[in-house]
Amino acid sequence: MYSDKVMDHFEHPRNVGEIADASGVGTVGNARCGDIMRIYLDIDENQIIRDCKFKTFGCGAAVATSSMATELVKGKSIREAMEVTNKAVMEALDGLPPVKVHCSLLAEEAIHAALWDYAQKNGIQIEGLEQPKSDISEHEEEEEY
Ligand code: FES
Repeated sequence: MYSDKVMDHFEHPRNVGEIADASGVGTVGNARCGDIMRIYLDIDENQIIRDCKFKTFGCGAAVATSSMATELVKGKSIREAMEVTNKAVMEALDGLPPVKVHCSLLAEEAIHAALWDYAQKNGIQIEGLEQPKSDISEHEEEEEY
């Protein structure tokens, strides 16, 4: 059912954790299943993503897509990171079963939410970036998950 790459990223997720004093943090929830993902970005003065970490309280496909998404945005400019769509993440993972496609949306939304946070903090606009609909960071309590 799952590709070798999905299984690899699920069993050995890359970039799990958090970044203290991150340039941008985005937390999103999936309305269909209630799963939650948070992405941390460390962005340098040239708008290059130096580091990226994630925490996911969700299914295996969500873990695998977050892992791959963080790998894809690391070292990229914020403009290039905007091109890391759920489709790009799925392709990099050699596909997901149709029933799991919505899980990959979480990764794209979390990256966008973190970029939005970065843009807000720095008073800049990122072309093509809209305010995340499902950013739940303002409504949650500060607790680990
Ligand atoms: Fe919730 Fe996959 S089932 S993100």
